Amino acid sequence: MCGIIGYLGRKRAKEILLEGLRRLEYRGYDSAGVGTVEGDGSLAVVRCVGPLDALVEKLSGWNLAGTVGIGHTRWATHGAVTEENAHPQLSADGSILLVHNGVVENFASIAIFLAERGYRSRSETDSEVLANLIAYHCAKEPPQQGRFLDGVRRALLHVRGTYGIAVLGKDFPGEMVGARSSSPLVLGVGDREFFLASDVAGFGSRARDAVFLNDGELVHIRENNFSICTLGRELVEAALEAVEWQEALVEKNGYPHFMLKEIFEQPQALENAMRGRFSADGSSAHFGGLRMSPRELRQVDRIVFCACGSARYACLAAEYAIERFARIPVEVEYASEFRYRNAPMDRNTLVIAVSQSGETIDTLSALREAKRKGYRVLAVTNGVGSSIAREADGGIYQHAGPEIGVAGTKSFTTQLCILTMLALYLGRLRDLSFEEGAEIVQALKDLPRLAEETLRLDEAIRALAVHYASCQSMLFLGRQSLFPIALEGALKLKEVSYVHAEGYAAAEMKHGPIALISKDCPAFFLACDGPMLGKIQANVQEVRARGADTVAIACAGTCEGEPFANRVLTIPRSHPAIQPILATIPLQLFAYHMGVFRDCNVDRPRNLAKSVTVE
Ligand code: M6R
Repeated sequence: MCGIIGYLGRKRAKEILLEGLRRLEYRGYDSAGVGTVEGDGSLAVVRCVGPLDALVEKLSGWNLAGTVGIGHTRWATHGAVTEENAHPQLSADGSILLVHNGVVENFASIAIFLAERGYRSRSETDSEVLANLIAYHCAKEPPQQGRFLDGVRRALLHVRGTYGIAVLGKDFPGEMVGARSSSPLVLGVGDREFFLASDVAGFGSRARDAVFLNDGELVHIRENNFSICTLGRELVEAALEAVEWQEALVEKNGYPHFMLKEIFEQPQALENAMRGRFSADGSSAHFGGLRMSPRELRQVDRIVFCACGSARYACLAAEYAIERFARIPVEVEYASEFRYRNAPMDRNTLVIAVSQSGETIDTLSALREAKRKGYRVLAVTNGVGSSIAREADGGIYQHAGPEIGVAGTKSFTTQLCILTMLALYLGRLRDLSFEEGAEIVQALKDLPRLAEETLRLDEAIRALAVHYASCQSMLFLGRQSLFPIALEGALKLKEVSYVHAEGYAAAEMKHGPIALISKDCPAFFLACDGPMLGKIQANVQEVRARGADTVAIACAGTCEGEPFANRVLTIPRSHPAIQPILATIPLQLFAYHMGVFRDCNVDRPRNLAKSVTVE
């Protein structure tokens, strides 16, 4: 969601801002803009609706030479997708230029207050109100050093809501102020140049170090230095972290789309997620960052997962694994519901927030709510240094590498992998036998190789997508730990091909969705090896008997002879603990090829954002 980039240095800002916006495109947006402080002290703003290419085209007619600037990709919340509503927003008196990610909840009352004082909004955005509020407070500040920072700080004291902002002032040409509250903002420090961005991708290897701002902090950047303080004016010591950024990871490397590249990166991503995390005796896992002793973990008598979207489906799959291996009762909550539900929980409940970005506001808010009530919260995230990683009591990084495609692929399978390892670890701290533990470890070690084998289905799946490309609706059905994978298969298809799809527990189909079954509504079945195989094969027959096309994902060696479905995609035979991971891969490929055949933007599907930072 909304991408922010700011630059203050010696080079021309325009190109650096455009490059930063390109790198942030993956977050999702519908309009974009840049603003600079020009040599004569004027503030220049260029914005437009649509893709960045449109902004580049428009900018070609502008001679922007400023070395200080801000840029933004907007994902509309308040106000339609128009040029007027795009960022940067200029205050009514022309003195303040601002880019904003988040929502100012009390913008209406602030707007009335400001209108009475001559600051009238031209756009429909809450962000313009914030620009006006800052202009109003800066104008009130006595002319002294730090006036800009103080003006921004005073304005923010009146704001209720969330923000990551970067601000420039006409009267403060060599300065930039940034601030955050629940919307991410990171400072990049280079060689006599500074960057502000929604995430490290915005500046990548251009910066040497990064400082992740905490909520309620402001950063004041000047030509040769920066300082950080709180809304209460206390100085904060900056925690510099070296930027480890490999440009190759954010390039397509010969693949037509990031989504396909990231699907094919899964064997390596899984390898990275597991590296160094198996116990020496080969029967368990261990994690460096949990910050909980085995004794404390043994005392946990309930686990509550909080997550959204695909991450939530990974938790649903983990529920089966944890209950089976560790016998700990598990609940999986929509983070957005948990936050307001006030669910009664026991003291020994462990809350686990799962989020690839580590910035999803609903998950972050659920984490904060759980902490406020005194529960210990762990995080599983791919977002190194993200808000969720920093605010959790402990956690596990997924190490999947940057994921640019908006639809999660390797982030999802590495979540499944990490959560399976966590289930194993918890199990081995309790009743799971050495033999069972060792079998699961071996299965996990085999996983990258089996994922590689599964990817060989790509051509067959491409052909399948040709066959179904004009479908309007599909069902995805699975049982037990494969049921959440059916949900994920349906979500992936919806996201990248805009085909309506539903995921269901296969037996539940008879209680309603069976009414949808017709020759125009094919059904995918996750029919892997295990005790449920016979039952799900029976479910396939129920659907076939009603004239629908069926596709089964089955394990090698389990479906010899007459195929039980119209089409069968065979994945390697494997331990049930890793079947959900392997079964996901064909569904990702199917969604991808469907999206490509249907001419959809598979890397940046309409209306979606990679990191959902508004409620
Ligand atoms: O960054 P998170 O894992 O917290 O994101 C949660 C969801 O927004 C995300 O999984 C979403 O459903 C994706 N579009 C899935 O492809």
